[in-house]
Amino acid sequence: MRVGIVGYGNMGSAFAKALSRSVGRENITVFEISGERRERALEEGFGVAKDLHFLLGESDLILLAVKPKDLKGVLEAVKDSIEDKVLISIAAGVDIRTIEEVVGTDGKIIRMMPNINVLVGRGTIAVAQNGKLSEEEFSRILNLFSTCGSLYEIQEDLFDSFTAIAGSSPAFIFSFIDALAMAGVKEGFGYEDALRIVLDTVSGSSQLLKELGGNPNEWITKVTSPGGTTVEGIAYLERKGFKGTVMRCVEKTSEKARKLKG
Ligand SMILES: NC(=O)c1ccc[n+]([C@@H]2O[C@H](COP(=O)([O-])OP(=O)(O)OC[C@H]3O[C@@H](n4cnc5c(N)ncnc54)[C@H](OP(=O)(O)O)[C@@H]3O)[C@@H](O)[C@H]2O)c1
Repeated sequence: MRVGIVGYGNMGSAFAKALSRSVGRENITVFEISGERRERALEEGFGVAKDLHFLLGESDLILLAVKPKDLKGVLEAVKDSIEDKVLISIAAGVDIRTIEEVVGTDGKIIRMMPNINVLVGRGTIAVAQNGKLSEEEFSRILNLFSTCGSLYEIQEDLFDSFTAIAGSSPAFIFSFIDALAMAGVKEGFGYEDALRIVLDTVSGSSQLLKELGGNPNEWITKVTSPGGTTVEGIAYLERKGFKGTVMRCVEKTSEKARKLKG
């Protein structure tokens, strides 16, 4: 399958690199308005289209990786030439119905909501389609995107909530990691050492939960011995409303995502 990518910014370039592992670099063409980013795409081994018309001729699947404000213009420009091609939009807050309003309801449209972890092929990506792709076509595409990360087929009305717990949450997790590392500095470690220790602990804990399963609370109990050190820390977190704060943070984020949509 030949892939065309419109926009070679943060996400477009991350998807191009991750997708090159499933479709091959030679099957990816990019269209980008910034000369500097076009150069970068060429240097990184991708084909670069001189215009959108050329890109469409070179692609079976078109990934729209421009900012939401630029999406309508791109949709207007491609709407008469998409025929049987699959359009994939990753624009935050733009739903499938809005895309159909421009390109029509016959087109094959997929909406994805990725997070920044696509940069290392470990994104968490929500997916929904408009019902115009056959099951086989859809699963073939999901398979291609598996090199970008884990895909979750969800109802579109959950996309704003997904944005909060997966799209924005890397920033919350980075904050937690930084706080732990700074705490390490306060205890006497250099920041770099503290950060390495924290990163290994975070990825190890996540792997443990994935491999051994179970509810995180069961594992908290296992780490927390009666009258021991860990329970002191947990008690302080609870007194400060740690879980409630995190839950309110997610609520605020998804409220904002809904508000932005209007
Ligand atoms: N960044 C994230 O973590 C993240 C997460 C989830 C979803 N998203 C979604 O991903 C999309 C892309 O975000 P991003 O952070 O990658 O944005 P970005 O870095 O600004 O990349 C977009 C690129 O597209 C170019 N562009 C604009 N209009 C174009 C057109 N008509 N044809 C071709 N190229 C065009 C832009 O050029 P100029 O800069 O010159 O305008 C820019 O180089 C957005 O819709 C965003 O909502 C991003």
